[in-house]
Amino acid sequence: MATRPFPHGVVNGADSVTPIVMKAMSRTSDPRLKEITESLVRHLHAFVREVRPTAGEFERGVDFLVRLGHASGPEKNEVILLSDLLGISTLVVMLDEERSAGATDPALLGPFWRAESPRCKPGESIARDGVGEPLSVSGRVLDLQRRPIPGVLVDVWQASPVGLYENQDPKQPDRNLRGLFETDSEGRFHFRTVRPKGYPVPMDGPCGELLRAQDRHPWRPAHIHFMLSRDGYKTLVTQVFDNADGAIESDVVFGVTPSLAGRFERAPDGGLRLDYDFVMQPGTRRIPRPPI
Ligand code: BEZ
Ligand code: FE
Repeated sequence: MATRPFPHGVVNGADSVTPIVMKAMSRTSDPRLKEITESLVRHLHAFVREVRPTAGEFERGVDFLVRLGHASGPEKNEVILLSDLLGISTLVVMLDEERSAGATDPALLGPFWRAESPRCKPGESIARDGVGEPLSVSGRVLDLQRRPIPGVLVDVWQASPVGLYENQDPKQPDRNLRGLFETDSEGRFHFRTVRPKGYPVPMDGPCGELLRAQDRHPWRPAHIHFMLSRDGYKTLVTQVFDNADGAIESDVVFGVTPSLAGRFERAPDGGLRLDYDFVMQPGTRRIPRPPI
């Protein structure tokens, strides 16, 4: 901590504030922290110059941030939700490391991933209560040269036919609609499940107020989450969406990209089928921490 007096100058008019704050922060020893805080101050000051909030508006903004914190806890994180609703979370995911052409688009991990999904055999059903419209999901995991990658762990999790994850819904068995599969020697995976339903993000906190004020709906289109990992490859966290969902072009958290819109087709046995290939790129295996 800096204890020696360090003159950074006195404020003399609005134009002098930014350089004086920059100077006050100039001895930050961690170069990355310095870069981040300087950029943050530059952009926030520019924002204030552009918007020129009144004292009342500033107070309201501060109150909104305080309420985000109070509404957050082990069950819900309104700060992450705000970042999701403003597209910041998706932007962070998209910019995280260079992505090679042809690699599958990443998407948000979301708040519902749980470590240690049940290990499953190829073709096993993850619908442990059997409730819902049958859906068979299969595909291959390929490298950038489109060669199959065997031994990839394919962790899948999804919401139920009523749009709830098992840990939100006491009616579902523990670990329902979650499973951990492994690709075979041809890079193939296959599991059986039921059609997921889209769901709304929580509307009972300050983020709900914001969505209402912006005249936005709270829906995420139906999707299945995937986390693919294997040594030597960058862990791929993504989601495949049901392109027949009415919210496919208006995902409230901006997770849908054209290539992540999957086709749930009618199979000869009357059930649904989704066939989807993933492309992983070389890199480091990294299992993320759940956001809350
Ligand atoms: C999800 O993908 O599960 C999710 C992502 C952001 C907000 C809420 C849910
Ligand atoms: Fe989800």
